[in-house]
Amino acid sequence: MTVTSAGPSAVGAALDRKDGPLKVRGAATYAGEWPVDNPAYLYPLQATIAAGRITGVDASAALDLPGVLGVITHVNAPKLAWATDPEVAVLQSDEVAWRGQIVGAVVAETLETARHAAGLVRLAYEQRPHDTELRADRHDLHRPQHAALFGAAPGDLQDGSPADSALGDVDAGLAEAAFTLDATYTTPMNHHNPMEPHTGIAVWTDDEITLYCSSQGVHLHRSLLAGAFGVDAARIRAISPHVGGGFGSKVYPVVWGTLALMGAQLVPGRPVKFALTRQQMFALVGYRPATIQRVRLGADSDGRLTAIAHDVIQQTARAKEYAEQTVGATRAMYAAPNRSTTTRVAALDVPVPTIMRGPGEATGMFALESAMDEMASAAGLDPIEFRIRNEPAVHPEHGLPFSTRNLVACLREGARRFGWEGRDPAPLSRRENDWLVGTGVASSIYPSPRLPGNSASIHADADGRYTVRIGAADIGTGTWTALTQIAAEALGVGVEDVNLEIGDTSLPVASSAGFSSGINCWGSTIYAAADELRKLLDSEHGGMVPAEGIEASADMPDNPYMEQFAMYSFGAQFAEVRVHEDTGEIRVPRLLGVFDAGRIINPKTARSQLIGGMTQGLSMALHEASVIDPRFGHVVNNDLGGYHFASNADVGSVEVHYLEERDPYTNPMGSKGIGEVCIVGTAAAIANAVHHATGVRVRDLPITLDKLIV
Ligand code: MOS
Repeated sequence: MTVTSAGPSAVGAALDRKDGPLKVRGAATYAGEWPVDNPAYLYPLQATIAAGRITGVDASAALDLPGVLGVITHVNAPKLAWATDPEVAVLQSDEVAWRGQIVGAVVAETLETARHAAGLVRLAYEQRPHDTELRADRHDLHRPQHAALFGAAPGDLQDGSPADSALGDVDAGLAEAAFTLDATYTTPMNHHNPMEPHTGIAVWTDDEITLYCSSQGVHLHRSLLAGAFGVDAARIRAISPHVGGGFGSKVYPVVWGTLALMGAQLVPGRPVKFALTRQQMFALVGYRPATIQRVRLGADSDGRLTAIAHDVIQQTARAKEYAEQTVGATRAMYAAPNRSTTTRVAALDVPVPTIMRGPGEATGMFALESAMDEMASAAGLDPIEFRIRNEPAVHPEHGLPFSTRNLVACLREGARRFGWEGRDPAPLSRRENDWLVGTGVASSIYPSPRLPGNSASIHADADGRYTVRIGAADIGTGTWTALTQIAAEALGVGVEDVNLEIGDTSLPVASSAGFSSGINCWGSTIYAAADELRKLLDSEHGGMVPAEGIEASADMPDNPYMEQFAMYSFGAQFAEVRVHEDTGEIRVPRLLGVFDAGRIINPKTARSQLIGGMTQGLSMALHEASVIDPRFGHVVNNDLGGYHFASNADVGSVEVHYLEERDPYTNPMGSKGIGEVCIVGTAAAIANAVHHATGVRVRDLPITLDKLIV
């Protein structure tokens, strides 16, 4: 499809992906594919104990192997300038903090030689007892120092976000309630598993350090690595125009980026190629931490919540504390005068967790939205009606109005489209042959934050073409297309007149593709640059582009409304499940989501992203779990044979709809984030449908058939 319409209608058009033809022809260059001359290859060594220290290194057999260019371990690794972050401190000491941690690397003429030689390096260890089990009765649970929320990043954590919150008196609210619930929900470790592994090709010369990388944000990669290696950021160029998925795992390049640069330092001037294997990704690129979540709700006889309490225990790593706002959504969802949330972490001898799609909300809303379903049953209310009765007029904790909040409309529109009306609420009420059929619903929410550090430039040619430059990322989400549309709208020209450049630190600085903030930040910045260009043209050139062309740039403007409004995307997700009466096999023939994500920039790419998120939510509900063997401390199902996620046969019809209301306060486009709201709530909708089908309430993800045999 070609879009010829110029100007404002560029946004909202179902434009084909700009990068689509490149991708289907294999011409979109991913990190590992850059043509470089005479590359060397790096293969990492991983710790085979979960805790302790390295007492000896014997690399002689590896070094004797023809084709080996070097072996790097903590003994000879370059000392990093900034190694205060234990995760960044790759090869900086003899300490081993988790099984699978990087303890060395071989650089060789071929990948095969590097891998073989890695197996010849002998490491001696002094092992300490390790502990990898998350339990609620641990004595070392503690309040995290920081909780990752919105733009919080390592080294850039937001202290302003208290991990605990309280309003009113929960005990009193529960005591006065006509109905109460006290239930505990658990979620396992989940790994992101993007299709493309974490990859870098690094070249270190006296002048420039080049890193072709799989990155959710090249400028963050550059600044972290420049800090670690103590070099001027201007010397590093990170390039990442096409990325095969990330889901959060490619935001912080701490391990693989550092190792790629160390390899490049070993053979100056020569490119070093490094790609993690699927198995290595299970120990080195983060994961969604396991949780144990207690939810207590109280409601009066009219079904109005009198109390909401959400107490979370999360797994984190002894090497470095990562905690997320599992309770973040609970704080914004429903009205109740008495409320409290707490977050505690257990530091285990495990790999360091990180953000993963809907970090906090995805697991937290499984608990809250399951609990809401349980309470609706207890109160004898339809689960949609129960939610509507508890819809808050303003943010229930800090009282700010919402910029837009159309959750109720999402629920109603979803109910109409899904065919909710007339549903018999009783479990086990529908049976088709040997299949028990049930339906469920859950709400979705995700903030629409902004990350700092954005700038864009626009160059106008006299022949009417505009080159828009910003170091943004497209991790498969549609940035190439959506930002082109936004630029066309901002400039008042057709999309065919816009040439977009992203994914390179040689472009103006940009924030990462994370926290559903990308389009909000980058689009606002492009809008500002277009304004600058217009001003420049009007003031100095009578509105005409001069023959030699002209360029303007701008930083992301502050949005004063962010202090006046709470900004979130919302959604309602509906699921139909079928459970086989004899085997407990669970099928999901139908998912339907209605989203309030403000104005939709491109309904085609947005649809793909929303369907993808719901599918990932289905996968989280039924399949995904990383299983640690506590004896050895590693994930045992560390490949795509053992780590199940939903594939085609597991997914039925997935329908998405948008309410398409323009948000007047978020940004000039009127959009809100879509990347993560779509995974939030899906697992609960499916769990609620499983309960409706079978009468069995599964509070432990994933919902596998053994949990239904009661
Ligand atoms: Mo997303 S978990 O912020 O990449």
